[in-house]
Amino acid sequence: MEGSELSVSIEPLRSGHAALLFELLRDEAIYEFLDELRPESVQQLEQRHAFMLNPDSAPPDERWLNWLVVANSTSWQPRRQVVGTVQATIHLDKRQVVVAYIIAPHYWGRGIATRAVELMLDELVKDHPVKSAQAYIDPANRRSIALVERLGFVVSEDSPDRDGNVVYERSDLIT
Ligand SMILES: CC(C)(COP(=O)(O)OP(=O)(O)OC[C@H]1O[C@@H](n2cnc3c(N)ncnc32)[C@H](O)[C@@H]1OP(=O)(O)O)[C@@H](O)C(=O)NCCC(=O)NCCS
Repeated sequence: MEGSELSVSIEPLRSGHAALLFELLRDEAIYEFLDELRPESVQQLEQRHAFMLNPDSAPPDERWLNWLVVANSTSWQPRRQVVGTVQATIHLDKRQVVVAYIIAPHYWGRGIATRAVELMLDELVKDHPVKSAQAYIDPANRRSIALVERLGFVVSEDSPDRDGNVVYERSDLIT
């Protein structure tokens, strides 16, 4: 919006965030290209988060990290709004991270997901020796493909995966 300023930040997901995310994650448009289902209640989303946040849920060679995406705009009321989530699955053996992201449709097309994924990659390389990042994307998911291409991902030699997703990769996380 003209004259308005938008900034994006990410915060580690914690128990209690389900109530902030539930209404956002109810929008059917989010799930057009995803395998996961819409949450049915705040309680069900809380349980999903509890599983994701429990370190014992991940296989021994994986780490699961999740963040809330928050955007601030001078033209919004309230200025600070929770807009989605970003997720990283670290494969320790391959020093590789698989990224995923959801932004609520109301906030699409403003560069929020691009910035949030960029912030997540910055956070990841601070604490984890990951060399490459991958994203598995339905070939019809134009928005997601545009996003990873903007961030320098290219189609990987692992592509397509067995479900027909295009595998995008960026191999320059640690130079
Ligand atoms: C994929 C998804 C995360 C993209 O979210 P988004 O916030 O709209 O993405 P961005 O705004 O960063 O980029 C999208 C558009 O914004 C534009 N944009 C990028 N930076 C911008 C900026 N600073 N200002 C304004 N617009 C900008 C881009 O040009 C892009 O437009 P285009 O798609 O016409 O090329 C979102 O559509 C989504 O959550 N989809 C459902 C879940 C999903 O499919 N996740 C991916 C699974 S692989």
